[in-house]
Amino acid sequence: MRPRLPAPGPLARPRGVLLTVCLISLATIWLCRLPKMCLSGEGSISHTVTHLTPPAHPPIDLSKADSPFISWPLARVCAESTAWAPGVVFVCDNNSGGIGNIRNYILTCVRYAIDAGASGLVLPQISTRSEKDLSNLMLGQRDFSYFFDEAHFRRSLHSACPQFTLYNTTADIPHAPDPFKAEMITPRNFGLRGGCDKRELNKHTGVFDKAFRKHVEQSAVDFSLPAPSLEHPRIIRFTWGVQWDWPVFRDGPEFASSYGGLLRFYPDILGLGQRAAGYMREYAMQNGASRKFAGLHLRTENDALSRWPKFDEQSGAYLERAGAMGFKAAYLATGNQTEAAKLTRAAKEKHGMAVVTKHELLKSHPADLEALKALTWDQQGLVDFVVLLECEYFFGVSPSSFSMTVAGKRHLKTEGLYTRPWRIGGDGDGRSWLAGKYEHYWEDWLFMFDSLWP
Ligand SMILES: *[C@@H]1O[C@H](CO)[C@@H](O)[C@H](O)[C@H]1NC(C)=O
Ligand SMILES: *[C@@H]1O[C@H](CO)[C@@H](O)[C@H](O)[C@H]1NC(C)=O
Ligand SMILES: *[C@@H]1O[C@H](CO)[C@@H](O)[C@H](O)[C@H]1NC(C)=O
Repeated sequence: MRPRLPAPGPLARPRGVLLTVCLISLATIWLCRLPKMCLSGEGSISHTVTHLTPPAHPPIDLSKADSPFISWPLARVCAESTAWAPGVVFVCDNNSGGIGNIRNYILTCVRYAIDAGASGLVLPQISTRSEKDLSNLMLGQRDFSYFFDEAHFRRSLHSACPQFTLYNTTADIPHAPDPFKAEMITPRNFGLRGGCDKRELNKHTGVFDKAFRKHVEQSAVDFSLPAPSLEHPRIIRFTWGVQWDWPVFRDGPEFASSYGGLLRFYPDILGLGQRAAGYMREYAMQNGASRKFAGLHLRTENDALSRWPKFDEQSGAYLERAGAMGFKAAYLATGNQTEAAKLTRAAKEKHGMAVVTKHELLKSHPADLEALKALTWDQQGLVDFVVLLECEYFFGVSPSSFSMTVAGKRHLKTEGLYTRPWRIGGDGDGRSWLAGKYEHYWEDWLFMFDSLWP
């Protein structure tokens, strides 16, 4: 509260006194603009409320697939990790699944590598999965550029964390064992976590650095290994599945909002997605006299888990809501053509809404259609991802990591670098809505929201 000037009372005071009171008050007001001075007075508690406004957002939309990487939050974290250990090298390739899983796995692994004080990192490779059996997740490794922009990653990582040497492959690590072998670790086993559910995030990341270093030292003693150095590297790989692990808001909203920008999509795929979004606006214009369109992610491929919402729960809710919002056109991302046809029909009949998938959309752009067909199923998902970032309103499903990542990235438009976490359940954030169950933190996989960098 601001100190008030005394109201003129019935007993007129001498002018001098009034002037003094006035000056003191003004001085107090001025001093209280500096919150510390008002709050740190020893023994005296000031009940001043300061009206500082949050810092202005940078004039950058972080919800875009091509938004620039803002490096200072990562640079700050890297600068804090002081004990860089030469010879400790992280290999972040034991990942699996679609873009949502792969992306968060790599980010999680690099985040741990920073606290581990690793001085080396191998450019992460990507595990592919079978197109015939989507639940067969392990079909050999592809290069980083299978999904991502390598030059962007090199540049961005180097600018924020110059301590890391980035090796192209495991074969490029000097003095790596031959045949190659890495030490497997599960980072959440470092530090005594206790807790009651095995899916619990690693709330104990604060001690990971110390516990990991102790492990490196102790195991060197136990196995008579020399201290890690370039000549005697300690090469670390995670066990499978370490991807919903790091409580992302531990590093502050600026970090949580910018870190994912390390992984921009491979330029050709990004370009294809951006062109598809442009075609989608034309399509919306033709079908509804507006360039606005809704984006739908129907996740009913046969590898979806049994607890997830089914086709009718997803499509019914999407169409009801999109119809009520007045959308006349929608872009549909799904890998299941049978169900795409079903939803498209229902949209037309019940809501007069024109729905189109990427393959249909690109039919009138043959070169782009060819480029799309040349991609694998998971790479084609990146095209969907880009278009869904561009739509006016996104409908997806929790706990699909694809949907959650799209919604999370779109959410960055709300407060830029200072974006607070997506509010789980409920009606979304005005830009996206995710169908799903929101009852059980564990069984409904809601912990993913807390461990996902948009
Ligand atoms: C690593 O890859 C980059 C870019 O592809 C290339 O310029 C560089 O020569 C490679 N380095 C080694 C040691 O092979
Ligand atoms: C990934 O981790 C699992 C253990 O969780 C291990 O069996 C497998 O060999 C690892 N994959 C690679 C490529 O090292
Ligand atoms: C598509 O969905 C149907 C159920 O409507 C299911 O039987 C089929 O296995 C799914 N196909 C794929 C490729 O996921």
